[in-house]
Amino acid sequence: MIIVTGGAGFIGSNFIIDWIKSCNEKILNIDALTYAGNLENLSSIENNKQYIFKEANLCDSSLVKEIIESYKPRAIINFAAESHVDRSISSPYEFINTNILGTYNLLDKTLEYWNGLEKKSKDNFKFIHISTDEVYGSLGKEDNAFTERHPYQPNSPYSASKASSDHLVRAYNKTYLLPTIVTNCSNNYGPFQFPEKLIPLCINNALTGNEIPIYGDGLQIRDWLYVKDHCSAINTVLEIGKVGNVYNIGGNSEITNIDLVHKICSILDKLKPKSSGNYADLIRFVSDRPGHDRRYAIDSSKIASELGWKPEHNFNAAIEKTIKWYINNNDWVSRVKSGEYTNWIKSQYSNK
Ligand code: NAD
Ligand code: DAU
Repeated sequence: MIIVTGGAGFIGSNFIIDWIKSCNEKILNIDALTYAGNLENLSSIENNKQYIFKEANLCDSSLVKEIIESYKPRAIINFAAESHVDRSISSPYEFINTNILGTYNLLDKTLEYWNGLEKKSKDNFKFIHISTDEVYGSLGKEDNAFTERHPYQPNSPYSASKASSDHLVRAYNKTYLLPTIVTNCSNNYGPFQFPEKLIPLCINNALTGNEIPIYGDGLQIRDWLYVKDHCSAINTVLEIGKVGNVYNIGGNSEITNIDLVHKICSILDKLKPKSSGNYADLIRFVSDRPGHDRRYAIDSSKIASELGWKPEHNFNAAIEKTIKWYINNNDWVSRVKSGEYTNWIKSQYSNK
């Protein structure tokens, strides 16, 4: 049995779906079901005997302790977080609460559990903390990509809160010997991403005839990784990653925001042509994000050489596949946006 937190969110739900397809081991999902947590993402596996859901906030120490102690996992993977940079700028409080205090709480309850295990289970246990490349700050155009040794220079309340949580995870390993691993990944894209993030926002605004906002000059660079590749990297780290280590995970797919949005618009022109004009006509330059990081780039050579992981999906093919998913799952987007998924959750889970 493994426990994941934040499994009703974008990456966590993809991870659980892939896990159930690939093995028979049980997986328990702890999620507080914030605005970003949507159990509908997991409807394809919700009745599978391998899957267990527990609604809990990471900050609820007695509930978190009770779940860990009663299900006795061999590993815990911490996906749960407040994850949107713009929200962290307008209201940082929840980021401090969940990302720092929630992670501390989870670490502390995990440590109590781990200390009580017999030697063999103790030796086999892993705590994997899912983090971001944003902790390393911003790169210049010609700078080398982030390695695991790059100094931490977070620039937003989101990245500062994730950086704090990474440091806590490291400290629990160094001080208490808790077997932890941190992964720092670049921007993910794929099915079930909340439509506040650039790629689903762009697709959805284009399809609904709304303007597509580009912050500042649009020349900021991100490195994009298909979410299924991130999930396979985490699986690799779970099985053969070395305790006490950090692994950077990236897609080798750097692109400016404006080029990315043009690419999405031209794929949409091909897949679902507008009656007049092109989707790119909807692009609007708007005020920049305060403290906006100019460029992220990941050097994944450590995970490639030490664990043999590399991304399998080609960016052009996977972005088109992603766009098709959002076209075919327009109802999912509408429900998420309208908050209707909250009613769906109530109807699905009121008797459980
Ligand atoms: P998301 O916002 O889609 O999902 C977060 C999930 O965590 C939701 O289901 C939410 O309900 C849950 N959650 C939030 N606060 C909680 C709390 N206090 N207790 C329990 N559950 C809580 O996020 P995501 O994009 O899936 O990201 C998952 C993780 O991966 C995060 O830690 C994020 O920092 C990291 N990450 C994301 C990306 C990306 O591009 N999305 C890239 C690198 C790293
Ligand atoms: O790098 C990993 C990070 O990627 C994760 O840790 C975060 O959880 C995830 O949200 C993402 O952060 P970004 O800020 O890079 O993602 P976002 O989709 O919000 O924005 C991508 C880029 O597009 C960024 O430079 C800001 C810009 N942008 C974003 C939006 C929402 C726009 O120009 N217009 C927009 O409307």
